[in-house]
Amino acid sequence: MNKKIIILIASIVLIACLGFGVWFMSVSNNTNSDNNSNTNINKYNNLSNGNVAIIYFSATGTTEKIAGYIKEVTGGDLIEIVPKQKYTDDDLNYGNEHSRANKEQNDSKARPEIASSITTDTYDVIYLGYPIWWGDVPKIILTFLDSHNLNGKTVIPFCTSGSTGISDSLNTLKNYNKNVTWIDGKRFASETSKNEVSNWVKGINY
Ligand SMILES: Cc1cc2nc3c(=O)[nH]c(=O)nc-3n(C[C@H](O)[C@H](O)[C@H](O)COP(=O)(O)O)c2cc1C
Repeated sequence: MNKKIIILIASIVLIACLGFGVWFMSVSNNTNSDNNSNTNINKYNNLSNGNVAIIYFSATGTTEKIAGYIKEVTGGDLIEIVPKQKYTDDDLNYGNEHSRANKEQNDSKARPEIASSITTDTYDVIYLGYPIWWGDVPKIILTFLDSHNLNGKTVIPFCTSGSTGISDSLNTLKNYNKNVTWIDGKRFASETSKNEVSNWVKGINY
């Protein structure tokens, strides 16, 4: 074969290979970026993490631990409801009918003060955590609802307890503010693993 023809064929093959290479790289880049954005959407359940807050009260750290797991899964902001007057061990002694916690739970008007106001405006979805006290929400949770406008938001309660379930406290919350979209939440035991919390968060899909 003529040398010129061989060089011509080789050049055509080389150009075709280069063109294919450029096309292949652009297709594979697009696929990667699609996968990445899907991962983000799934991870944060169609919300950017800036829309989610985990707001909790915890007297002895159990609810705080669960709140931390929810933060890890959602990427939301972790915010503690801090009582102006911290609860001492004596305050929490439910065996003493005169203890502070027992007196508050027996007083429908009790609204223990919160140390500082919490900015809730920027969140669409709030995970609201608390320990069960006498089957119900601690009164400081009602203080929080009184002093923060959650109307139109989606709130997902979660709680920890020795054994009592979440249902009575859910009823209290649903009746307390009917302008909130309350999602049926979940009660966790103190030994709950991060994996269990993570499965719950992914299952409810908020
Ligand atoms: C005043 C008081 C009342 C409680 N009442 C209940 C109850 O009715 N049912 C229950 O299972 N646990 C009850 N507990 C146990 C707490 O719900 C449990 O220890 C919880 O996980 C503590 O959460 P924290 O560490 O975040 O404060 C009570 C604890 C206190 C201090």
